[in-house]
Amino acid sequence: MSDLATLEKSILDQIASAADEAALEAVRVSALGKKGSISALLATLGKMSPDERKTEGAKINLAKDAVTQALAARRDVLKAAALDARLAAETIDVTLPLRDAPAETGRIHPLSQVFDEVNTIFADMGFAIAEGPDIETDDYNFTKLNFPEGHPAREMHDTFFFNPKQDPGSGAGAGGSRMLLRTHTSPVQVRTMLSQKPPIRIICPGRTYRIDSDATHTPQFHQVEGLVIDKGSHLGHLKWILHEFCKAFFEVDHINMRFRPSFFPFTEPSLEVDIQCRRDKGEIRFGEGEDWMEILGCGMVHPNVLRACGIDPDVYQGFAWGMGLDRITMLKYGIADLRQLFENDIRWLNHYGFKPLDIPTIAGGLSS
Ligand code: DAH
Repeated sequence: MSDLATLEKSILDQIASAADEAALEAVRVSALGKKGSISALLATLGKMSPDERKTEGAKINLAKDAVTQALAARRDVLKAAALDARLAAETIDVTLPLRDAPAETGRIHPLSQVFDEVNTIFADMGFAIAEGPDIETDDYNFTKLNFPEGHPAREMHDTFFFNPKQDPGSGAGAGGSRMLLRTHTSPVQVRTMLSQKPPIRIICPGRTYRIDSDATHTPQFHQVEGLVIDKGSHLGHLKWILHEFCKAFFEVDHINMRFRPSFFPFTEPSLEVDIQCRRDKGEIRFGEGEDWMEILGCGMVHPNVLRACGIDPDVYQGFAWGMGLDRITMLKYGIADLRQLFENDIRWLNHYGFKPLDIPTIAGGLSS
C-alpha cells in the first residue's frame, strides 16, 4: 500500500472511531488543518514537476475528498446520537402538577401574623398605631413613667444599658440621658403624650429588651402597649376594650376575665388581667375551665406621668395596658417554647406560618 493510501486509511479509521463531535474535530484538524497531514502533502505539490503534480495532485485531492466526506457523514451520525441522548435525558412529564408560585410557598411568621391581627382588632376600635425607637433614654423608659431615680421598681427590669456618655458636660448620664434598650413599650406613651394633645387613643406594638433567657424569656421580645387619654376615660372603658380584644383575638364568643390588683409605677390603680382557660392534654381552651392565665398588665395612668408629659391631671385622665405579644402568640397557636419563635427553622415556619395573601381582617376572619 502506498504511503498516501496508508495515511488515508488511518484517518478514515480515526473518523470512524471518534466518539463525539469534539474528538471528530480533533481528527479534522490533524488531517485538514493548517498543519494537518493532508495539508502537508498538498504543500509538497509546489516543488513537483508539472507532470508529477498532475498525477500526485489528483491522488492527494481524491484522498482529501474521501476524508472530507467521511468527516461530514460521521458528524451527522454523532449529532443525531447527541440529540437522542439529550431528548432521553431531558424528558418532561407534562402530567406532573405545577410547582406552587412563590406567593404560595412563602410563609408569614406567626409573630408577624399576630402583629397584624392585633393591629386589625384595635384599628377596628378606632386606635391609631404609634411607634418609637428601640434605643431610648433612661428618662423616657423610667423617669417620666414615675420610676424615680434609685426606685426599687427599676430593678424589676433587667436593663441593657449603654455606656454612660463620656462628655463631662453631659453629666455622664445624669438626669436620665443615659441610653438603654427599651425594657417595655411604655416610653411610646411618653412620646405620644409629649407630641399630641388629648384625646389620645393609640396602641404601640414593638420590640423590647431585657437581660433574660430561658424557655419563657428571650433577651428580645415583643409587647403591645395601649393608651387612652380623655376627660372621662375610666376603668369601665378599659375593661370593655380588653374584653372585646380577647374575644376577637382568641376567636371565641365568650371569655371570662379576672382583674387582680397589682403594682406598676406608671399606673394607679394597677391591675393584672387573667383569662379563664382549660388545660387539657397539652391543649389550652379559652372561655371555659377552671384555670386562669395571666395575659397583661394595665391601670389608670398615674397623675405624675400625665404631669411629666405636659398633661393636666385635673382635666384629663386615662388608662393604659401592656401585653406580651410572644406570649399571646404561643397561647393562640400552641407553641410550647418561646425560643422557637426566634430560631428561623424553615420546617417550623412551614408548619406554624401563614399564607402571605391571607391577610387578617375583621370581616374575613383573623387566622383563617
Ligand atoms: N410596661 C409593663 C411591663 O413591661 C406592662 C404594662 C403594665 C404596661 C401596665 C402598661 C400598663 O401600660 O398600664 O411590665
